Amino acid sequence: MKSADVRRKYIEFFVKRGHKEIPSAALVPENDPTTLFNSSGMQPLIPYLLGEEHPEGKRLVNSQKGVRMQDIDEVGDNRHTIFFEMLGNWSLGDYFKKEQLPWIFEFVTRELGLDPRRLYVTVFAGNNSVPKDTESIKVWQEIFSNVGIEAEENERIFAYPAAKNWWSRAGEPDKMPPGEPGGPDSEMFYDFGEQLHLHEHSPWKDETCHPNCDCGRYMEICNSVFMQFVKQADGTLKELSQKNVDFGGGLERLTAASNDNPDVFTTDLFSSIIRIIEGLSKKNYTDEPKTTRAMRIVADHIKCSVMMLADGVLPSNKLQGYVLRRLVRRALLHGRSLGLAGDWKYVGQLVTPVAQIYEDAYPEVVTKAQEIKLLLEEEAYRFGKSLEKGLKKIEKIEKLDGTQAFKLYESFGFPWEMTEEIARSRGQVVEKGEFAKAFKTHQDKSRTAARGMFKGGLADHSEEVVKLHTATHLLHQALRIILGNHVQQKGSNITAERLRFDFSHPSKLSEEEIKKIENLINEQIKKDLPVSFKITTYTDAIKDGALAFFGERYPEKVKVYSVGNPSASSGSRNSVFSREICGGPHVEHTGILGRFKIMKEEALGAGTRRIYATVSKTP
Ligand code: GLY
Repeated sequence: MKSADVRRKYIEFFVKRGHKEIPSAALVPENDPTTLFNSSGMQPLIPYLLGEEHPEGKRLVNSQKGVRMQDIDEVGDNRHTIFFEMLGNWSLGDYFKKEQLPWIFEFVTRELGLDPRRLYVTVFAGNNSVPKDTESIKVWQEIFSNVGIEAEENERIFAYPAAKNWWSRAGEPDKMPPGEPGGPDSEMFYDFGEQLHLHEHSPWKDETCHPNCDCGRYMEICNSVFMQFVKQADGTLKELSQKNVDFGGGLERLTAASNDNPDVFTTDLFSSIIRIIEGLSKKNYTDEPKTTRAMRIVADHIKCSVMMLADGVLPSNKLQGYVLRRLVRRALLHGRSLGLAGDWKYVGQLVTPVAQIYEDAYPEVVTKAQEIKLLLEEEAYRFGKSLEKGLKKIEKIEKLDGTQAFKLYESFGFPWEMTEEIARSRGQVVEKGEFAKAFKTHQDKSRTAARGMFKGGLADHSEEVVKLHTATHLLHQALRIILGNHVQQKGSNITAERLRFDFSHPSKLSEEEIKKIENLINEQIKKDLPVSFKITTYTDAIKDGALAFFGERYPEKVKVYSVGNPSASSGSRNSVFSREICGGPHVEHTGILGRFKIMKEEALGAGTRRIYATVSKTP
């Protein structure tokens, strides 16, 4: 079965069951500084899982593109990828376990044709605050019994602790920051049997293998999260006002299972990319395990880079841009092990197959393909040159030690295996101990930084963030009034401390313009204007003068937030100051915002400016 069929069947299945299809959000989350990339379908829906009203109702379905950097070390096996697509359905306080589990079973067995005897499921075993999910066990037993399978616990249904069967963006309950939603989940695994041909190891021959083990025989294909808790500031879990379902199923894995093929890299989501790599390297994918692994890494990382570039991420040394840079470098290093070096721009040849794979689902990749190719080639070329320099440097080092190996990793991105191989070709043995120690310190530092980032976001300081979110709407409108209607939002990022707003404008703002913008916003704050929303169609919202985030894809029905009298028609600007399509949340009255101040204004790129601004803590 083709991936496009899996995607289409899934959306149709849930639309038939009362769900509204919503578009995939871009890879970089809007107004959510807690994370660099959308890494699951639920992420753009957090406000709605927490109780905000969604314009499309309580049942939603989509296919969301995502990036999971935490899986980077796993890429190279049969099933892990950094870029992936997640099929998702949500109940926002509507249906729950006894609808979700039978539906998903029906979808995978009837629509995808998976053999029920090869399906295994897991549930939450309970902890000291949330009991074992016996309800899901009962529902699963009935589902299996309807197809003639007696589903015993520990044979077909397995209960696991929070480490395996609890889902939130941060992981287990202990790791969830205050304000984070999460809950017990029920995962489904497909048994590929002992299809050994593509794997070096067959750990499932080991007696300890079980459906939730990481060996690869049983592949997790989907996960129904019963998102019914929110973490409190005192560390306890509180029941949410609504019980949600958050389902996620990886398109890559569901496609693999529907073809009874344990290797996602030989499905149509990757095979054309792999074919080009085979042609360029003059090697076969199945030649030997290390070739297979390297080709998978190149294919995955370059695909992910293309998707990031399509969503406006540019290579840099910061945040998303740094992740992109790392992926391109890593791909080039693994490509090098396939003999792909010298002409570093070869990665540009992988753009067309990626664009073709996603031409229907993400047409933006096709429209931007040429631009993406140039950016990718430029980045590859620059790194290739610096790599060649780095290699020359290594040749000069008489005896490489672990600390030097780590420096090479840090400065040039040389992975351990590559440094070891260089050294080995010269008859040297490098001690991994020192490298591993330095690497661990580096990893701990970046994890702490990532946690800090997570803490600094919406979850911890929602009041400040909500205020700055409303201030962002005021700023957007004020920029258009003072500078002109050519101003369009290009990006927005809010932390508890400041807002950051990117917009189109050709020149530096003068001090006078900055003053005028601040004054205009502070006048609206003083007027204590009401902030309200209504739900309408996208077309009517635009007709009514609502601003939209340029480049964002919107569902048919949207929420429109107005600052000022909401019933005023467009044009009567004295009573409505700003009108914008937005998911919220916002403050109810501008009066509580405090004093608005622009801290910094700078160029971001040709024709794009960036503003950092704050509001004072007290009104
Ligand atoms: N949001 C559910 C999952 O990612 O598994």
